[in-house]
Amino acid sequence: MALWEGFGNSGGIGYTARDLATRAFWRGTSQQETHLMVLTPDFDTRPVISFQHVWKTYPTGTEALRDVNLVVPEGDFVFLVGPSGAGKSTLVRLLIREEKPSKGKIFVDGTELGRMKRRQLPRYRRKVGLVFQDFKLLPNLTVYENVAFALRVHGEAEHTIKSRVPEALDTVGLAGKENTYPANLSGGEQQRVAIARALVHAPRFIIADEPTGNLDPATAWEIMQLFLRINARGATVVMATHNREIVDLLRRRVIAIDAGQIARDDRSGRYHDDLSKPQIRAQ
Ligand SMILES: Nc1ncnc2c1ncn2[C@@H]1O[C@H](COP(=O)(O)OP(=O)(O)O)[C@@H](O)[C@H]1O
Ligand SMILES: [Mg+2]
Repeated sequence: MALWEGFGNSGGIGYTARDLATRAFWRGTSQQETHLMVLTPDFDTRPVISFQHVWKTYPTGTEALRDVNLVVPEGDFVFLVGPSGAGKSTLVRLLIREEKPSKGKIFVDGTELGRMKRRQLPRYRRKVGLVFQDFKLLPNLTVYENVAFALRVHGEAEHTIKSRVPEALDTVGLAGKENTYPANLSGGEQQRVAIARALVHAPRFIIADEPTGNLDPATAWEIMQLFLRINARGATVVMATHNREIVDLLRRRVIAIDAGQIARDDRSGRYHDDLSKPQIRAQ
């Protein structure tokens, strides 16, 4: 159980000035702004994601989301939990603008996603790092090229690629694996490549859909620690997950979705809302 040590009840948002400076560095903020942020008490609560009466009905008639209202402050770490078919992936797909809401509005970083023009999409997608359950790596490209590809599609210069890719691979602990192909990596390593690819733009948001769904518990925990580090560096993280152990240990914000609606939103939550033990809820 040594693996879990040091990550007990550390949920909630409470940043020190040093954390803020680190976050500012990660976001490329000036020193003057950093001072401002440290002095501004409500900095942490600036909403960067908001859903306002969001409905999503697929062409098949399935109502996947029904009147979802949600506010996520900058730097938050949110677990989306709920049974299969509840609407978690739909919420994720709306957030990355793969789908549009049928009704209602979604704002991310001040922009209403439904009104965003097609030409604004690449810029938006650079702000958002995506991680999926099945990694979605390109099998015929090496580790290095998989990560570099994310920059190449946006037309980044070769010198930028040469500095950013090793940095991202280093962050996820894959330095030395540059020339390996995905098929020769373990599941955990493949997910690290996917995370490096998500990180290479230094995104403000990390959106993950069941990122540990294909991994054994120890590997899942290692991957989760990476997400925690990325969050501590300032990225806002929204993660759909079925990993009950991790959710219960980390005691972060838990939003439970059931039949397309938010059934529960707990600041320092658990996977299941155990009504038989009200003292747990009160923590
Ligand atoms: N592209 C789609 N077309 C039609 N129905 C869909 C589509 N994607 C998801 N659904 C339906 O919407 C509901 C929510 O699905 P989803 O968001 O994938 O849930 P979860 O990720 O929580 O399992 C389910 O009933 C599912 O069958
Ligand atoms: Mg899903």
